[in-house]
Amino acid sequence: ELGGYEHYMLKEIHEQPEALRNAMRGRLDEENATAVFGGLNLTPQQLRGIERITLTGCGTSWHSALVGEYLIEELARIPVEVQYASELRYRNPPIENNTLVFGITQSGETADTLAALRETKRKGHRTLAICNVVGSSIAQAADGGVYLHAGPEIGVASTKAYTSQCCVLTMLALYFGRMRHMSFERGQEIIEELHRLPGAVQQALSCDLQVRDVAAKYKDATNVLYLGRQFNFPTALEGALKLKEISYIHAEGYPAAEMKHGPIALVDKATPSVFIIPHGTTYDKVMANMEEVRARGGPIIAIASHDDPQVDSVADDVIRIPRVPEFLQPIVSVIPLQLLSYHVALLRGCDVDKPRNLAKSVTVE
Ligand code: F6R
Repeated sequence: ELGGYEHYMLKEIHEQPEALRNAMRGRLDEENATAVFGGLNLTPQQLRGIERITLTGCGTSWHSALVGEYLIEELARIPVEVQYASELRYRNPPIENNTLVFGITQSGETADTLAALRETKRKGHRTLAICNVVGSSIAQAADGGVYLHAGPEIGVASTKAYTSQCCVLTMLALYFGRMRHMSFERGQEIIEELHRLPGAVQQALSCDLQVRDVAAKYKDATNVLYLGRQFNFPTALEGALKLKEISYIHAEGYPAAEMKHGPIALVDKATPSVFIIPHGTTYDKVMANMEEVRARGGPIIAIASHDDPQVDSVADDVIRIPRVPEFLQPIVSVIPLQLLSYHVALLRGCDVDKPRNLAKSVTVE
């Protein structure tokens, strides 16, 4: 069952190019430069009338919701709000008419996400699920939805479901964008980039050996900071969560620019910072943050574009990823972070696939 891999988590990390292909199969419509989904159960007129989107979920799925917020607002220009499902269910927020609510979940069984979706549906809002497990409670409770088709995810730490969620959200952003202002040409460009994505993820996976060395260097850390901006801010949160849950090292993710408002006080020789700094609009700003950390003696691991020589002078270790447009960076830049947590956990003798205190689906609130 493990197909030659030592753990399910490692197997599932390496399955990501294929999982992405499966998520996209039959859903990219070149002729109309858009995406197509079979199970939204809403007419084009109803979808055209959507004025706001709420994305909700827990844990890693909440992180993909944050990626979705950046994606949908940038590509489709629809205002998006992200809510923890556990908060949404009791908060009684004023949700406006013509709001579409997405519950995002790998298992489809998370109690808080199910309750949040049921509560919003009860109020008369349209609810959709982005879900991996076919026929699960959340898939059934929603008015419709999109399956990830990522295949079974057995390792407790979510990996391929996360990148598949980000991929589905990208296709939804394309779909909503093309219903509105997005040009045919821009739609075509996005489809071409999506076709190249599994190859880019495959390339990113080749950092494995190098990541193992970096893991050996920092395995005894007690605190690690993860910093990134814009599309890579959720990646910082996700990298930190992955490290926490399977290696039991305390880690925090922040938008890189927030660092100077408090967390920088943590920086010292024993506290490594992981900077997610691929090329992009905020590159220079993140570089300046990185220099701040260096000036305070903090070790730096940089996740950077393959053709960026500038980071070498600032970071202690540079892990290279292929260049993709900013809106696809979350799916590529998370790969080395998944591998980093895996190798650190392994070196610390942790049970990678079954971390303490955690269950694969959280059916209690
Ligand atoms: C982290 C992780 C959890 C889940 C969360 C929601 O790696 O797996 O944080 O993401 O419990 O689970 P689902 O997506 O099944 O609703």
